[in-house]
Amino acid sequence: MGKTSFAEGATKEDNMETKILTGTQQDIGEAVAIIQRGGLVAFPTETVYGLGADAFNEEAVQKVFQAKGRPGDNPLIVHISRPSEIGQVTSRLSPDLVALIDQFWPGPLTLIVKKKKEVPLITTGGLDTVAVRMPDNPIALELIARSGTAIAAPSANLSGRPSPTKAQHVREDLEGRIDGILLGEDCRVGIESTVLDMSGEHPRILRPGVITAEQIETVIGKKVGVDRSLKPQNQEEAPKAPGMKYTHYAPQAEMVVVEGPRNRVRAEIERLQQVNERMGNKVGVILFEEQAFIEAAHDFFARLRELDGQGVDVIFAGALSHRDGVGFAVMNRMLKSAGYNIVRV
Ligand code: TXA
Ligand code: MG
Repeated sequence: MGKTSFAEGATKEDNMETKILTGTQQDIGEAVAIIQRGGLVAFPTETVYGLGADAFNEEAVQKVFQAKGRPGDNPLIVHISRPSEIGQVTSRLSPDLVALIDQFWPGPLTLIVKKKKEVPLITTGGLDTVAVRMPDNPIALELIARSGTAIAAPSANLSGRPSPTKAQHVREDLEGRIDGILLGEDCRVGIESTVLDMSGEHPRILRPGVITAEQIETVIGKKVGVDRSLKPQNQEEAPKAPGMKYTHYAPQAEMVVVEGPRNRVRAEIERLQQVNERMGNKVGVILFEEQAFIEAAHDFFARLRELDGQGVDVIFAGALSHRDGVGFAVMNRMLKSAGYNIVRV
């Protein structure tokens, strides 16, 4: 089922001392010092925890790829602490960009724009565009502001593992591999930011999140496209966000998504559970209330890690309705986790 973790290619030994830091002024000061000397610090955001490095320091960014075991063509998101700092990475803001920034920052919207030459190619995976966002978390904003630079940060998990929504998840994956972890609260949103490509002629969503196409359309008054590869039937097409092509979020267990009317989904999951338990398999079930999209987004990755922790062999997950924007975003993660292993009832 293609469960290769790229983390297996990680070259960094996991035997360094990782400082566990809290949100105090002094601890944030230590995290700032680590960033300024080219080290790596994980920090909380409202979406998922990030693994930060100085976005303009090539050696530091290189270490991010190593610590995560991340393929080098998968670009990082550059995080800033004030809207005006977008000028560090791009030179011209269209009226649409200004409107989106006014409406959604700080918050879970990442904008892809043409990059300035000062942004190293290693940060953008060799692309001439850069992804940028201002996160909505006080610890993250203080870390970035006091570091005096922009912070490149992918999600703070080993590549291929579910994204971390609790400090404990970061410790499981990265303790011993990075310089510090800033502890914060559990992430409020729970899935990663919406990635919106504003670098081409038409705005296009490359990764769905809790900020939906409809909300974006309302602000810019234009139709927003969705990358073709996001449609489950087109999963063989190359996605435009390089990171979207890799095996993602994969639990250690086999995973199957059961799709159809709710009552039948429920019945089929029960049946599959019984059959599998009789075969001696340990079974995990993920079944959210059908319309509880926000809650599903908040809990999904944590549930995957929890079931892995229990050592389940197989996970059966009930599909959510696709139509709603946030439901679509959660389903994108659920289908990827299951390697598009779908049963229709
Ligand atoms: O919520 C989030 O976005 C979290 C927190 C930490 O901010 N970050 C995050 O980063 O999810 P990461 O690296 O796991 O995902 C970044 C996504 C990848 O799919 C990557 O390919 C895409 O954004 N991306 C980054 N730069 C891009 C670019 N210039 N063009 C197209 N896609 C890009
Ligand atoms: Mg990620």
